[in-house]
Amino acid sequence: MQDDMSYVIPAREIDGTIPDGIRGIFLRAGPARNELAGQPFGHWFDGDGGVSSFRIENGQVHYRCSFVKTPKYLDESAAQKVVYRSYGHNAPGGFFKNFHLPANCANTSVVYHGGKLLALFEGGRPWRLDLDTLQTMGEEDFDGALRPRETYSAHGKVHPDTGDYINFGMAASLTGPRVDLFRVAPDGRMAKRGSVKVDRMAFCHDNAMTKNFLILMVMPVSFKRPLNVMLARETIDQNMEYQPELGMKVYVVALEDFSLVRTFEVDPFTFAHCSNAWEDRGELFVDVLELNQQQGEEAKAQYRDIFHQPFPATGKMQRYRFNIQTGAVSPENLPNDLPCEFPQWDWRRTGRPSRYIYTAGICQNDTPGFYNALQRIDLSNGEVKVFDAGCGRFVSEGIFVPRKPDSPESDGYLLSAVYDANTQKSELLILDADSLSEPIATVRLRNHIPHGFHGGWSPL
Ligand SMILES: [Fe+2]
Repeated sequence: MQDDMSYVIPAREIDGTIPDGIRGIFLRAGPARNELAGQPFGHWFDGDGGVSSFRIENGQVHYRCSFVKTPKYLDESAAQKVVYRSYGHNAPGGFFKNFHLPANCANTSVVYHGGKLLALFEGGRPWRLDLDTLQTMGEEDFDGALRPRETYSAHGKVHPDTGDYINFGMAASLTGPRVDLFRVAPDGRMAKRGSVKVDRMAFCHDNAMTKNFLILMVMPVSFKRPLNVMLARETIDQNMEYQPELGMKVYVVALEDFSLVRTFEVDPFTFAHCSNAWEDRGELFVDVLELNQQQGEEAKAQYRDIFHQPFPATGKMQRYRFNIQTGAVSPENLPNDLPCEFPQWDWRRTGRPSRYIYTAGICQNDTPGFYNALQRIDLSNGEVKVFDAGCGRFVSEGIFVPRKPDSPESDGYLLSAVYDANTQKSELLILDADSLSEPIATVRLRNHIPHGFHGGWSPL
């Protein structure tokens, strides 16, 4: 991304017609500057966060994008070189310049909740932006409830019954590693905090939420030689490794009071993202996108340098059933067609049984460098529908938007920001979520949006 932008795409410039029912803001976030003065950062995760918003109203779109003006962005822009330690590179200057967590680059997701637009990064606190201008307002601490150096993940979830935003953050302390838990009320106030002790500081990127429980799956992806990280002999990326011999635990926490209900031991696996989860007669059903089994350097390279990999990281949908009474765990395969990532569902059904999963995926169109397709999995009958974005065209996570607030599940639209390598520009695609056939509307931008991570939809 080159610069902050703001412009309107009028209805006459849009292919197709934006349906009357679509009125809201589609949001995207991702690493939007991945180098300085020609020197690439050490890792895709270290790119400075850029947020895009598509305000869709009256059949037209007001597009905006802006860098999040974090200290990392501002100081490194001024210096035109790396100043801070990040995930994939250390700062020049040895131990004394690297004795801190990776710099917050606010690049992972963006959510509008409680009257606040927040750019999220799991290694630090959120950054607040102005919804109308995307101007950076500052680091959000919820009136002091979120302390400096505490973390707030990029995968919080809105509870559809209460409107609360439930989130978590990994933390180190003198008494050992823990996961902090947060409940933010619909008015944007931090209403409750809690914490659960865990076995180790681990890569813990997403969680699952049912009506009454939060399910924290703590993978054995952790520091291999922690002293080397502290002494800045290695980067964090070099040091974090999948260590299945350490085992894997799943912590089930009650949403009501953040008390630990039960801990499960599972056979280790790796994942970045969960889909929906729900509970039924004492069992928890958690759908998770289990990553393929590449480990070590091969797996790390898929994330580190996304721009020069033949394939991005993918996996397949799996379901884990946890019996709270007996402690039994059973995994089962879900229907899959494409190697996939970025699972999504109808957020009105978060925590309750849902029939459909939408993912980004890789189809056979001879241009596999990034996710080039969207798929919809029907869990009731195993049917999978695929939308092939076309040669050299790469999708973002697809976000479901209902046709009307009370429309049935999957009666609505799937929105995705597509980067077209043929024109080096991006566009917003609006698909019928049920058929995944030709786009209902294509909104072409004057610029590209770099390959990113997450975002969402906020109705107006
Ligand atoms: Fe994520």
